Amino acid sequence: MPTTVITGANSGIGLEAAVAIARAGHRVVLAVRNPTKGAAALADIQTRSGNDDVEQLPLDLASIASIRDFAATWNARNEPINVLINNAGVVMKERTVTADGFETTFGVNHLGHFLLTHLLLDDLVAAGDDTRVVTVASGAHFFARQGLDFDDLMFERRRYSQMGMGAYAASKLANVMFTRQLARRLADTNIAANCVHPGFVATNFAREGDGGRLGDLSMRLAKPFARSPEKGARTSVHVALSPEVAGVTGQYFVNSKVHACSKFAADDAACARLWNTSESLLGLD
Ligand SMILES: NC(=O)c1ccc[n+]([C@@H]2O[C@H](COP(=O)([O-])OP(=O)(O)OC[C@H]3O[C@@H](n4cnc5c(N)ncnc54)[C@H](OP(=O)(O)O)[C@@H]3O)[C@@H](O)[C@H]2O)c1
Repeated sequence: MPTTVITGANSGIGLEAAVAIARAGHRVVLAVRNPTKGAAALADIQTRSGNDDVEQLPLDLASIASIRDFAATWNARNEPINVLINNAGVVMKERTVTADGFETTFGVNHLGHFLLTHLLLDDLVAAGDDTRVVTVASGAHFFARQGLDFDDLMFERRRYSQMGMGAYAASKLANVMFTRQLARRLADTNIAANCVHPGFVATNFAREGDGGRLGDLSMRLAKPFARSPEKGARTSVHVALSPEVAGVTGQYFVNSKVHACSKFAADDAACARLWNTSESLLGLD
């Protein structure tokens, strides 16, 4: 039975992707930061998919130690991973830092997934043909209008704009750039790396806690225009499972179709620079 690991699978797009992938017959591993929410999601996924082969493992992407613990637990099992979905994400109402001192949005959305993918690479290689890494980016990456500011990736010098949208857009641009560079680096392997924009989706995003009251209000007002989490998960599921996507790598998908990314995301030199900078920040070789 193939295995899918998905971050942030207790809520929204990640939860619905997990249901669909469990229905498709994968063993699904929910990588979640809150075990109570994880347990509720696990029961829900089992019930709705009819697949009992679902488990949760603790993962807080705001902590290098937690990411390393997750990976060490998995590495010790010697079990291949066929699909890794880097789905979890946050937007912050004000600037905060992770346990390791990274601005939280960049730390969780980009650096956390960068490190997780790095530490799970051997397990992905071990899965054989048609292994996939899917990163949930966003159309918001187009709002990073100056590209990434490599001199201020942690938003220490710039104003942290309302609801952290500048930092969020930068983190989602980093998701696309990471995907393109990962695909290039893995070109001779069995692993494809792609990213997706799920559309505007009615989830808990920006509502609970991290986004604050302004986030909550904005999301409530916008909800009638949003798609359901089930629809929002479709592109992630398509890119994770569809035979049509076999052999496709380094692409940005919208509505299950390849779509152009921003000119900053398409800048190969900047993607390579982000890779090297991320390695340095995380203390990797
Ligand atoms: N909703 C949209 O319109 C939209 C549009 C474009 C892109 N996206 C992207 O879609 C992805 C999923 O978001 P969603 O809309 O489904 O929102 P959501 O319902 O809020 O789900 C976000 C998930 O990320 C998890 N998470 C947050 N911080 C984490 C951390 N430090 N460690 C581990 N997990 C963490 C959350 O866990 P908790 O439940 O414990 O907080 C939750 O499971 C995100 O990457 C987001 O950027 C969403």
